[in-house]
Order: sequence, then C-alpha cells, then structure tokens
Amino acid sequence: MSDFEQEVRDRISAMSRDGHLRESAHELMRASLPPQYSYNFAWMSRPIIQYPQDIVAMQELIWAVRPDLIVETGIAHGGSLIFSASMLALLDLSDAIESGAEVMATTSNRKVLGIDIDIRPHNKAAIEAHPMASRIQMIEGSSVAPEIVAQVHEIAAGYRRVLVCLDSNHTHSHVLEELQAYAQLTSIGSYCVVFDTVVEDMPPEMFGDRPWGVGDNPKTAVWEFLKQNGNFEIDTTIQNKLLITVAPDGYLRRIG
Ligand SMILES: C[S@@+](CC[C@H](N)C(=O)[O-])C[C@H]1O[C@@H](n2cnc3c(N)ncnc32)[C@H](O)[C@@H]1O
Repeated sequence: MSDFEQEVRDRISAMSRDGHLRESAHELMRASLPPQYSYNFAWMSRPIIQYPQDIVAMQELIWAVRPDLIVETGIAHGGSLIFSASMLALLDLSDAIESGAEVMATTSNRKVLGIDIDIRPHNKAAIEAHPMASRIQMIEGSSVAPEIVAQVHEIAAGYRRVLVCLDSNHTHSHVLEELQAYAQLTSIGSYCVVFDTVVEDMPPEMFGDRPWGVGDNPKTAVWEFLKQNGNFEIDTTIQNKLLITVAPDGYLRRIG
C-alpha cells in the first residue's frame, strides 16, 4: 500500500470517529431525503435516482472488481443502467488499450442486466436509443417472481465476474427475497449493493405513505440475511468514507 493510500485509510478511520461530522452528515440526509434530492441528477442524460456519493462509490467498486456482468433490480428512468453500462465500456476501453488494440469494439461480452416490474415505454425507448444500449439487457417482471429469478440465473451462468445491485421495492420481505435470490450470483471479492438501507436511520414519520419504514426496510433485510449467510460482510469503509449515503450497511462484499 502506498503512503497516500495509507493516509486515505487513516483519514477515513478518523472521520468515522468524528461525532460532529457524522451528526452533520446524518442531518443532511434527514433534510435532503424528503425534498427528493436524489431525483436531481442524471448520468449521460438519463435521470439517475442516487446520491452522487454513492455513484462515486459504485465507480470505485466497478473499476476495482472489473465485472463482466452487473445485475440491477430497479430501472426507473434507466440512469443507473446507463451508469453501469458506461463503466463497463470504460473497462472495455482500458482492456483494449492494454492489449494494444487499435480500435475498440463497440460491443463486448460485458453486460448490465436490469429487472423492473414496470418499464415505462418512454424510458425503455430512451434506454434503447442511448449510445450505451449495446451493453444493456432489460427484463420486465417482479424481481422475486420465480420465472424472472430463473431467467436471471440462466443469463448469469455465462459470466465469470458478477456484481449485484438491489434498488427496487424497499420492504424488508422483498429485499430479503431479492438477497436470497441474487446475492449468490455475486462473485467472491465482488459486491452485492443494497440501496436505501438509510430508511432505518430516519425518523419514522418520514415514510408515512410508503410500504417501508423504520423496522421494515432494506437494512433490516440485510441484517437478517447476514444472520443466515456467512459468505458476505458489510464493507464499512465505504459508508465511513461517504458519510452521505443511502446505503449504510448496504455495501456487502462476498468473502466466501
Ligand atoms: C428507486 S427506483 C430505481 C432507481 C434506479 N436504480 C436508479 O438508480 O435510477 C425503483 C424501481 O423499482 C421498481 N420496482 C418496484 N417493485 C419492483 C419489483 N417487485 N420488481 C422489480 N422492480 C420493482 C419500480 O418500478 C422502480 O422503477
């Protein structure tokens, strides 16, 4: 590890123990979630419903893991699919440069597989017309329906390094079912990222009109899943680094 990397580690560790900083970050999450701050951003012109900090964390993970398949539940406007596809395109470009190829192929084996229960026609059309579309496959249906799970497993069988992102229905039971269905696709050393675990840390009244809330959300599902499964651990360095994140305890690294 370089001196610079060691400094970064030490700084993250110190920041994670800074109560004032943690409290300030928590307050920013509490104040920014209700006005839908996460709906303000786009990736390559497609709306992406994420906090910028989590997008940067995903960039770091994808570059480190170098997946050939990214499985994502929850497509919405397609921004996260386009983001993942653009990262795969950069991996392809770096492979091409490293191998001395003069021209990079516009298609490759690398793929993002997105699953959503309701892919709106205008979103589907915009995703299919996007320059990143050649690396994207979409499946419409519930992510926990047995036939959809089987289809995803069949596709994933053709890939070696897989990263999984869960960002669909945020109830405990749904996310737990998704974890039981898809976490096992994650390659050892890769990640299964569970978004919106932050719900557990917010005031109960914040989610009054939603089927999820404090005590019933992605974080409670992660905790339950980890009790049943020793192959994953929470990578706390990511949430300690980000401070502002919708996925505290949601960055799960596969260790076995
Ligand atoms: C938060 S949005 C996804 C945001 C997207 N990942 C992004 O970063 O821009 C949640 C999506 O989950 C989808 N969804 C809800 N229930 C689902 C289910 N049972 N199976 C699959 N997708 C579902 C919704 O239709 C919605 O498009």
